[in-house]
Amino acid sequence: MIDELLARIAVFHRSRSVVPEYPMVAEVLDVLDRAASPETVGAVSLPVARHLEAVQPTGDPVIDPLLEEFQRLAPMLPWRRTASYLDVLSADYLDNYGYVQLVGPGAIVEEPSVRIGIGVWGPHQHYPAHRHEAEELYHVLHGEPTFTGASGVAVPTVPGDAVHNKPWDVHSQDFGVTPTVLLYCWTGAVGSDAELIR
Ligand SMILES: [Fe+2]
Repeated sequence: MIDELLARIAVFHRSRSVVPEYPMVAEVLDVLDRAASPETVGAVSLPVARHLEAVQPTGDPVIDPLLEEFQRLAPMLPWRRTASYLDVLSADYLDNYGYVQLVGPGAIVEEPSVRIGIGVWGPHQHYPAHRHEAEELYHVLHGEPTFTGASGVAVPTVPGDAVHNKPWDVHSQDFGVTPTVLLYCWTGAVGSDAELIR
């Protein structure tokens, strides 16, 4: 069901210049190349998916086919939010945030060692400081999010940009005026969810 989306994610990763600091991409591509998705999955809808209607082509010849396929599939996919956030973050944030775990433990494609997914955030949301044991690589597919990583420096981004977090790096995000769509990959200790810093 999501084979075409996974293929477009692999094409996207292969279109990026190789960054020696991100050897995890090779592991992600190995998983994408052998992933086979089920014929159907049970849909779980979340309010955040409404923002995909405002997602416009970026002009990037590799990002746009990926976004287009994700928009097509979105109503049929199981959307989720991190369980430990539900009692902590505001109702406004929770209505403007969600992701689809495409590959990973308990994801559409079961995979114990890598997580690959796509997250969406509404305009002007602030994702508070959080961390996780897994290594993480984000790619911006839409929007103009600002990432603050372990250095504490806020880095503005545009579609196509990559942001890397080492295991346990504390990081936060501030989302811009248009909806943000992020492709994420986790490697290493992918069995544990992110946790907020309280
Ligand atoms: Fe993260």
